[in-house]
Amino acid sequence: MKGIILAGGSGTRLHPITRSISKQILPIYDKPMVYYPLSVLMLAGIREILIISTPQDIHCFEDLFGDGSAYGLDISYTVQNAPNGLAEAFILGEKFIGNDSVSLILGDNVFYGRQLSSLLQNAANIQEGALIFGYYVNNPSSFGVVEFDGDMNVLSIEEKPTNPRSKYAVPGLYFYDNQVVDIAKSIKPSPRGELEITDVHKEYLRRGQLKAELFGRGMAWLDTGTYDGLLEAAEFVSILQKRQGLYVACIEEIAYRKGLITKETLLNHAESMSKTDYGRYLQQIAEEELR
Ligand code: G1P
Repeated sequence: MKGIILAGGSGTRLHPITRSISKQILPIYDKPMVYYPLSVLMLAGIREILIISTPQDIHCFEDLFGDGSAYGLDISYTVQNAPNGLAEAFILGEKFIGNDSVSLILGDNVFYGRQLSSLLQNAANIQEGALIFGYYVNNPSSFGVVEFDGDMNVLSIEEKPTNPRSKYAVPGLYFYDNQVVDIAKSIKPSPRGELEITDVHKEYLRRGQLKAELFGRGMAWLDTGTYDGLLEAAEFVSILQKRQGLYVACIEEIAYRKGLITKETLLNHAESMSKTDYGRYLQQIAEEELR
């Protein structure tokens, strides 16, 4: 399976912070926001990753990750010239996807929770159709909203409905078979002028191939779209890391524990950040026996 991180958008809701910098480069506590979605793809076992961003911002991601080899990954980059919608990712990424299945994660979505790894690994094994998730929220009208019957069959999916049919929002993490490329090409822009991811899901639903799973109460899906959301996400990560001494979304640690990089490479990362707690944490991981 391939993975796409969509890190576009103009970030207008965070101005002036994002007037000259990509939202997905902003810090969430001690690391750039994009580390969080990248760690999710890594935990799903995905190594070939395409990062899509705006022409102005793409270099930020290239500077950060290079070709990905320092993390045992193969990362490539593509630009989205205008905010034409999430589903355009599959058209821009057609060559990259090839004949494979693909996961899309939005560059500003942060997930944390028990059994996230096993949930992701199962999701990445998808053979046919599309898999999305449902997450109970207070304000479903701000998101894609999915409605189920008692057997967890999807009944409907709507983008930002005024009168939502359920309280289950659809987070920005999706898994698809290869049909997604043709489906993305076949949909038409919505009234807001975007190729909507929800229209892709509607087509899978029409084909009887849309599956949805619930993220339970123990899962955190954090909002990073407002000043307060950013601050709260940072506090959340800081509290967990200090309490446990285990880091959230530490891509170097994940790469090492998955055997994607050697101890030497991990130590190089640690050395390059030795003045920080982050660097010292990597050093400590390298000194531990692999568990
Ligand atoms: C997008 C999707 C929406 C989804 C949300 C998750 O909304 O269109 O279905 O629930 O991401 O973050 P946007 O943030 O582009 O308004």
